[in-house]
Amino acid sequence: MTSKKIVEIKDLNYTYPDGTEALRGINLEIFEGESVGLIGPNGSGKSTLLLHLNGILRGNNGLVRVMDMDMDKDIKEIRSKIGLVFQDPDDQLFSPSVFDDVAFGPINMGFSRDEVERRVEMALSQVDMHGYEERSPHHLSFGEKKRISIATVLSMNPEILVLDEPTSNVDPRARKELIEFLKSFGITKIIATHDMDMVAEVCDKVFLLYNGKIIAKGYVKEILSDIDLLESHGLEPPTMVRLFKEINQKNVPLRLEEGIERLKKIME
Ligand SMILES: Nc1ncnc2c1ncn2[C@@H]1O[C@H](COP(=O)(O)OP(=O)(O)OP(=O)(O)O)[C@@H](O)[C@H]1O
Ligand SMILES: [Mg+2]
Repeated sequence: MTSKKIVEIKDLNYTYPDGTEALRGINLEIFEGESVGLIGPNGSGKSTLLLHLNGILRGNNGLVRVMDMDMDKDIKEIRSKIGLVFQDPDDQLFSPSVFDDVAFGPINMGFSRDEVERRVEMALSQVDMHGYEERSPHHLSFGEKKRISIATVLSMNPEILVLDEPTSNVDPRARKELIEFLKSFGITKIIATHDMDMVAEVCDKVFLLYNGKIIAKGYVKEILSDIDLLESHGLEPPTMVRLFKEINQKNVPLRLEEGIERLKKIME
């Protein structure tokens, strides 16, 4: 079965107005249903790249094509189908109540009051934030804001979920639940993160960004088990990779559960 190309970027460059060259010749393709991790150190261009996916930033040249839509003509449709969660929740939340923020997308899409309420309820339960409807987003903790930001996008039922650092400042239980949710949520996902253990759990493929360029891409196992590649670009491999390479094991596991099973066998 050949799957559909859902995102295509060709020769994309982006320079901020102050002259900072943030993206230099980006080429990438993402296929429907894939879960893609975008990794790279601070300032490597991850957020800048994500902001191109729904037209918030427009490259100086090159091509960005998402779901075969035209960035000029179809921008409203693009924004309803590509749910982008910003790195900073204060960029996402602007309403007086959590309900209003999560309802904003569905209301704009023209749904009935009942449907809007149904979607808000579902999105809040997906991030385990039921009961926060009447709270003011500005008075929530950072992790709570992060989870509400994700709900503002889920309520639109997007076809592509784009997440910028979804697990940063989220407590361990919420992180675990978020990971389980993302694993079970079969739509195309593009996730910028420093959380390599999450990438190991959720993603199929990985792009490594450095200095505005994609310097490596491949299946998650291949990229995340390459300690030299990760460390020489300011990143840290998943804990299990480091441990199993240290004790000279071949075919290193990426996930904790796999690692535990392997260790049990070794110690038998
Ligand atoms: N509004 C802006 N104006 C000027 N330069 C910017 C702006 N936003 C980002 N940059 C610069 O662009 C480059 C890429 O930044 P970007 O935020 O995309 O990195 P990132 O990979 O998302 O980093 P992080 O891991 O810290 O989130 C950096 O050099 C950054 O300083
Ligand atoms: Mg960023």
